[in-house]
Amino acid sequence: MDFSDEPGVTGVMVIEPMGNAGPFLAQAAARLGIRLYAATDEHVHAAYEPWLKRCLHGVCLTDLADTASALDDMEAFCRARRIVGVAVCWELLTPLAALLAARLGLPGNDPLRARAARNKIAMAEAFRAAGVPAPAHAVVATAEQAHCVAASCRLGWPMVVKPAEQGGSWGVSVVAGPDGLDAAVAAAGRFTRAEPHGLPLDSRVLLQSYVPGEEFSADTVLRDGVPYPLPVVRKDTTAGRYRVETGHSCPAGLDARTVWSIQETAARAALAVGVRNGIAHTEVKIPPGGEPVVIETGARLPGDNICEVVEAATGVSEAEAYLRAVTGRAPHTEPTRHAAAALRFLLPERAGLLQEVVIPAVPGTHSQIHIRPGQPVPEPADSSGRVGHVVARAASVDEARRLAHQVIADSRVKVS
Ligand SMILES: Nc1ncnc2c1ncn2[C@@H]1O[C@H](COP(=O)(O)OP(=O)(O)OP(=O)(O)O)[C@@H](O)[C@H]1O
Ligand SMILES: [Mg+2]
Repeated sequence: MDFSDEPGVTGVMVIEPMGNAGPFLAQAAARLGIRLYAATDEHVHAAYEPWLKRCLHGVCLTDLADTASALDDMEAFCRARRIVGVAVCWELLTPLAALLAARLGLPGNDPLRARAARNKIAMAEAFRAAGVPAPAHAVVATAEQAHCVAASCRLGWPMVVKPAEQGGSWGVSVVAGPDGLDAAVAAAGRFTRAEPHGLPLDSRVLLQSYVPGEEFSADTVLRDGVPYPLPVVRKDTTAGRYRVETGHSCPAGLDARTVWSIQETAARAALAVGVRNGIAHTEVKIPPGGEPVVIETGARLPGDNICEVVEAATGVSEAEAYLRAVTGRAPHTEPTRHAAAALRFLLPERAGLLQEVVIPAVPGTHSQIHIRPGQPVPEPADSSGRVGHVVARAASVDEARRLAHQVIADSRVKVS
């Protein structure tokens, strides 16, 4: 059924809703009375789960890897319906969303800066130009060039080596010294296309100085270039060569001044990469005794069920705030609840074939298994190695973290 003629009903085009933020967007759209449409390709669409197919009011099938034809197809699709906003779940598609919104004259991000929200090299340059605190960096194409940068002592050790365009910690290494550099550059430079859409990637490698300290994320909704800060979330990661996110908790357990300084830095990062009407997910580290340093930002909702963690702790729906911003309405970002939530991922100790996974059911928590027995699990070097997760809700963040930690400690993962 096409609802486009129904008076008062508006729609939002989501460029590829398949992804972690998709369910949160779908729930928020239902609450706001917004009809969601999707742009995707036919193979990806064929693999959509039933719930996603059910909540979409129409699908524009196109080739998202071909920017010019995708824009033509999506523009024609949107103009034939009452579409008043453009949203996106995947970082790599955020420049396309900015271009589409501009073509349609809808609230969106600055298309001239949008690449900086996807490409970490352009991002580093945008941060430098805007004075956003970020690690010192260099760009290389080969291990030989990386050794030259290392020999100049400009970035020091440890050094972070990462792909220009990628996510989920894929290809990111923290390298202790010159011996690890060749493998790290090879790992970071191996991405030339991103599946499932076959988007071409910049395969250059970014080297960054290492920022020590605790890590947090802070999302920012922007409407007409005005930032509305969202709650700060504490991030836990593995230590060592690979930094895989192991958990997220909210509130972050920080004093008000530090929270404000993270939110203000995150807002500056979002503005520097041209986010004007939408949302940005920004990651920062705070060196001991120092101020926040931005690791990265993306013009999209957070992944890793952070939407759920934030809403459980504060009552703020990031997805609803995002949909309001892209449809030109003021977002609601004030907490309505003062509780706490913590998410922890279950990681295997090593790669292999998954034999067994058991996450105990504990009151106050719920869990989800991502990889089923019989399937291969990769080395826990990036987010693809996470076997499952648990979310704990409690009155205090210490209690929520303790509960989530306990459930993971009592879980079983057997790999052969
Ligand atoms: N310069 C840095 N200094 C210290 N730690 C860093 C630095 N860059 C990255 N890291 C660590 O590596 C992790 C992954 O890096 P980054 O966020 O750049 O990659 P990503 O693939 O976009 O991550 P994701 O999509 O998982 O958020 C960070 O969350 C952080 O823990
Ligand atoms: Mg990151």
